[in-house]
Amino acid sequence: TRTISLNWTATNFSQNLDGVERYALGINNVPGHLTFINANVGDRIRIYFTNALSEPTSLHFHGMLQNGTGFMDGPSGITQCPVAPGQTYVYDFNITTTAGTYWWHAHYRMHLADGLRGPFIVSDPNEVKNYDSEAILQLSDWYHDQSENLLAWYLNNATNPGGNEPVFDSGLVNGIGQFNCSQAENVTCSILPQPYIQTVPVGCTVRIRVVNTAAFAAFLFSIDGHELTVIEVDGVLVQPYQVDMLTINVAQRYSVLITTSQAVGNYYINAQMYHGDPWTSMPSMPAGFNPNLIAILNYAGVNLSTAPFVTAAKQSPIFLDDMNLVPLQIITAPDRSPSDTLLLFEFLFTMKGTDTYQRAYPTISRYSRENLAWMLQFSSSFTTNSSTALLIDVHDSEDFQPTFEPSVNPIILEKNKIIDIIIRNDDPGEHPFHIHGHVFWVLASGVATSLNSIPSTFDLSNPLRRDTVTVQACPHDSNGCFQNGNQTSFGYVVIRFVADNPGVWLMHCHIAWHMSAGLAISFVETLDGIRNLAVVDEVRDTCAAFESWKNSGD
Ligand code: C2O
Repeated sequence: TRTISLNWTATNFSQNLDGVERYALGINNVPGHLTFINANVGDRIRIYFTNALSEPTSLHFHGMLQNGTGFMDGPSGITQCPVAPGQTYVYDFNITTTAGTYWWHAHYRMHLADGLRGPFIVSDPNEVKNYDSEAILQLSDWYHDQSENLLAWYLNNATNPGGNEPVFDSGLVNGIGQFNCSQAENVTCSILPQPYIQTVPVGCTVRIRVVNTAAFAAFLFSIDGHELTVIEVDGVLVQPYQVDMLTINVAQRYSVLITTSQAVGNYYINAQMYHGDPWTSMPSMPAGFNPNLIAILNYAGVNLSTAPFVTAAKQSPIFLDDMNLVPLQIITAPDRSPSDTLLLFEFLFTMKGTDTYQRAYPTISRYSRENLAWMLQFSSSFTTNSSTALLIDVHDSEDFQPTFEPSVNPIILEKNKIIDIIIRNDDPGEHPFHIHGHVFWVLASGVATSLNSIPSTFDLSNPLRRDTVTVQACPHDSNGCFQNGNQTSFGYVVIRFVADNPGVWLMHCHIAWHMSAGLAISFVETLDGIRNLAVVDEVRDTCAAFESWKNSGD
């Protein structure tokens, strides 16, 4: 195997991404979106990661499976203690996923929203390419305030009794935003960057990798005058599927092919931001911000000052249904037996007990259609500054009981069991759910009025596999989810994976605010499997360094 060695130092420096200057995070004083990992399948990645921030942090490589290297997965308090200021941690793992589009991001509190996020492209040198060139478009949201300030506001019931997520000030396409600063108050304006320009060869097929690296925003993505042919979903190649417009939720990736054989000229690339669901219009936006982001598709040779073509409006948004996407590499999902595990994941956002914080409470139960008894219920705040990582606790203790670290909601899985999870969404907004350490099958997705009406038999021949799935909003109007008789409608997905990858794997809503409010559980996969993982001393050293940093009172 080839080893790719990188020296990365997390730094905090002044950045002007959208016409407003702010301190933001990056790597080696370069913004995250410009800090690429480009590798081949099978490569070994070694990142010497030094934390030059004044706060702890950690990195996660979204979509990497970390087979045998669970300690390299990154979530603070789960698989490692956060890297204290001044410390170095070496992320060292092999790429065991398929070739495709991935990304890396901080996994400590809200650092991702401050800019610690970027692309991770895995190529297969033996791939027979059906395209001539490729490009990447990273779509994200952008806040003008530091995430810690926003998080403090969000989690405090006194300042935010409604539990509303802070709404982004702006949006970015490959790190470039368009904030009309002169219309806004209380913002110091910098030079407004030009929209991002993607030059493409004429008369060719171009693969565009679309990555949503946002904290909160989902996007409706389209290119004027061009059809999009979806060929990749979260690192899984799929049979070509043509759409006019793509919905892409937080942390998801799609590759689309476009044919640059339209009239030679410039075209608008449209990335319309939304949150909640794509059919509800956005709430009021800060003055100066238009949530319809644009970039320019520039046919090579065409003058950049040539006005883009005006083309017919795209059709209204349609939910890109995972059920319509078929992986190229056929993998039949295993059939479950009664001894396999079926988990029901429900969640609500509420105050509980004496909490001063608004938190997201996942409720998870081992579920059978006959018996709806709750097995486990957790309260949590994922932002706990844990000085022990769950993986180390499990690894080191003979009699691990999932009772002592409230921030991580552990569920113990048994070896090679088939795990089905029904995620139920009683919220009038979509939630993008991600599971670490696995690519799962999406067996069903839709809306229902009762758990019993969720399908229980599935087409297992070759369901879509991915690592981040959108759970649809409940059918709703401004008064909330619709009632059907005395039953409330909800959105759901049914997903399946096999417990065959030892580690502690976080499952969470990838809306960063929700993750920080505790909308997360972790799978302890499996007790024996974890004890057999070789722990590097570095992991324990990192916890010790973090502990002494905390005690130093910084
Ligand atoms: Cu993108 Cu917990 O991960």
